[in-house]
Amino acid sequence: MSLEQAPLPLGPSSWAIDAGPDPLAARQGLIGAPLARRDGPAKVTGEARYASEVRLDGMLYGALAFSTIPRGRIVAMDTSSAERAAGVALVMTHHNAPRLHSTVELGTAERAAAADELPVMQDDRIRWNGQPIAIVLAESQEQADHAASLIDATYQPEPAITRFDQARADARPPALYQGDPLRQTIGDPWTALAESPHTVDAVYTTPRHHHNAIEPHAVTLAWDGDELTVHDCPQAVTHLAWSLAQVFGIRQDQVHISAPYVGGGFGGKMLWQHQILAAAAARLSGRPVRVVLSREGVYRVVGGRTSTEQRVAIGAEDDGTFTSLVHTGVVATSRHNNVPEPFIKPARCLYATRNATFEVKRADLDMLANTFMRAPGEAVGTFALESAVDELADRMGVDPIELRLCNEPAVDPSSGKPFSARHLIEAYRAGAERFGWEARSPRPRARRDGEWLIGLGCATATYPYNRFPGGAARITINRNGDATVEVAAHEMGMGTGTVQSQVAAERLGLPVEKIIFVLGDSSLPGVVLAGGSQQTAAIGGAITAAHRELVGELLKLINCDSPLAGLHPDEVGTIPGGLGRLDDPSRSESYTAILAAAGVDTISAEATAPEGMEQLEWSMHSYGAQFCEVRVSVITGEIRVSRFLGSFDCGRIINARTAASQLRGGIVMGLGLALMEETQVDGRSGRIMNPSLADYHVPAHADVPDIEVMWTDIPDPHTPLGAHGVGEIGITGTAAAVANAVYNAIGVRVRDPPITPDKLLRHSPGR
Ligand code: MOS
Repeated sequence: MSLEQAPLPLGPSSWAIDAGPDPLAARQGLIGAPLARRDGPAKVTGEARYASEVRLDGMLYGALAFSTIPRGRIVAMDTSSAERAAGVALVMTHHNAPRLHSTVELGTAERAAAADELPVMQDDRIRWNGQPIAIVLAESQEQADHAASLIDATYQPEPAITRFDQARADARPPALYQGDPLRQTIGDPWTALAESPHTVDAVYTTPRHHHNAIEPHAVTLAWDGDELTVHDCPQAVTHLAWSLAQVFGIRQDQVHISAPYVGGGFGGKMLWQHQILAAAAARLSGRPVRVVLSREGVYRVVGGRTSTEQRVAIGAEDDGTFTSLVHTGVVATSRHNNVPEPFIKPARCLYATRNATFEVKRADLDMLANTFMRAPGEAVGTFALESAVDELADRMGVDPIELRLCNEPAVDPSSGKPFSARHLIEAYRAGAERFGWEARSPRPRARRDGEWLIGLGCATATYPYNRFPGGAARITINRNGDATVEVAAHEMGMGTGTVQSQVAAERLGLPVEKIIFVLGDSSLPGVVLAGGSQQTAAIGGAITAAHRELVGELLKLINCDSPLAGLHPDEVGTIPGGLGRLDDPSRSESYTAILAAAGVDTISAEATAPEGMEQLEWSMHSYGAQFCEVRVSVITGEIRVSRFLGSFDCGRIINARTAASQLRGGIVMGLGLALMEETQVDGRSGRIMNPSLADYHVPAHADVPDIEVMWTDIPDPHTPLGAHGVGEIGITGTAAAVANAVYNAIGVRVRDPPITPDKLLRHSPGR
């Protein structure tokens, strides 16, 4: 904070209507500054300790054995060889597992963390191919792995639904998804479509995906009586503690989750069977246990994004105005959970239409529970929608950006709510100019460089603003003027600790070096999911609330001869190192002076953020315009993404470096969605066939060009810090931008990513 700035008033006590913008949103200084990650040195030197690196005295190593059928019963299990194998301390199966309670499914309770409510190793039933049937504990990981391989199970298989085409015949509306039926009709879309002079109507499919965090799921834990200490890598420490407590019939405060570092999550780092099995086996063996899933284990135990089949139909007038928008389809789900990839969400907010219908149906398979994966719904929904818009533009012979912009809605087309902040047009204009969009030929196959055809494509990105209930923080200031900020939040690599140190420093008027930000522990305040791209707003709101409380406490300490005597918190503001009167900034007191005069060493305040009522008042989303240049070999069908630019509208950007990294990371994952990622399932057995990074391809460095990102940086007046999330939007729109660029390059429209060379050669009109 610079000395010239006026005192910074306290943040609003809510972000709902009439609350006024967060004064911090307009602040320069630390807000927006490209600070390097504060935990970077600890990570690159190896000092940062991840869950699989925690060593506990007397610890045993666990390995899982997995079922090889999708559905049925275990009729016999031979564990004798495993039990006799060197170093083995315990083989646990449903025969000897302790009795465990079930926990509730994600989304059904505030602190739910499990993808399903299935009992864990409590009976002989097999519910998916890959379900854990045994856990072996041994003195070393190698001994455990070997012994697990010796377990022999005999099954009585039962008929299973393992193919999407079997399941889709019985497709049905899902249960409410986050309170939403995932179906809505506005006006008369079918008549409008039939009467439209221009239409597109196509089906797009997307396969299953897995998260593939660089750190496989790992847990190291120990019991002390009925107290359970868990070193884990979740994106929801409080949810995990609550859920494990349910399973073991103990209180939440008897479960202590420690997770200072998480090696990537993307929605997959929640509660799965391996943590429950590790804790149960630890109880049975009386020793601490570490379970690190192999990469194959992650695919067997941890569900990813499910597959979708989406129909998009658009009708348009001659001037490009949409008359009708249809986005419907079916997603695969498992019988035992409810995460129906909500692909209709982008269509519901992006385009002005008087007639529309949106519907997601679910088709149940006997599969591992699928779950949230980076931009659930939007990642694959924007693929279909934004491909269809490009197809329509091509048919109409209009520029795809102009077609989008002439359908820009004045209010949210499905809810009728005003937008809290929407600057998509600015993002498109700035991005198009920067990218050199005018060089694009509207005609496919128009640009060639030797064997390479070159194409440009664009697509809209969007992801909602979320701020879930439960964000809380504790701020403690001591007499040296140092502040500790504590939140039960998560550092999954995105820079949360760094960004929130900046926020706290600016809010408190302290240099960032004076801020200690503590996160990743269930004993800290708050219920903060690192998901839904909501951590920045959730923590920002929590710090604001705790800061208000802290200022109130500081004012209570103040002497009657202080220049701040008798003031209400709303009459003071932050100045460097202390508080000043808003009506007379020259009259102020430092934190140090306040504490010294009162004779106290520290002062602490904790508060919960007000609920996210702003989300009821406004339609709140991040937006972006994705631009892609591809080169496609006419000989091999190889696709090289040669340039990529994302131009985003995500409210105020709090840290230019970490935000750019989040946006780029999302785009990289979107390139994977477009070009290579696919969890392949054997339709006969429901078994995942490519459970390794050798067979499931993710983008490697050579696949990724220098990705440029830019942003509007226009604060949303209705959010903490004026910010929107940046964690997930990068993956949205990306795959469509690639597919649209591929079409522009070679005139082949691929509607079933990943866009692999065989699909291009099959359809290519020849060299
Ligand atoms: Mo994300 S799928 O909300 O981690």
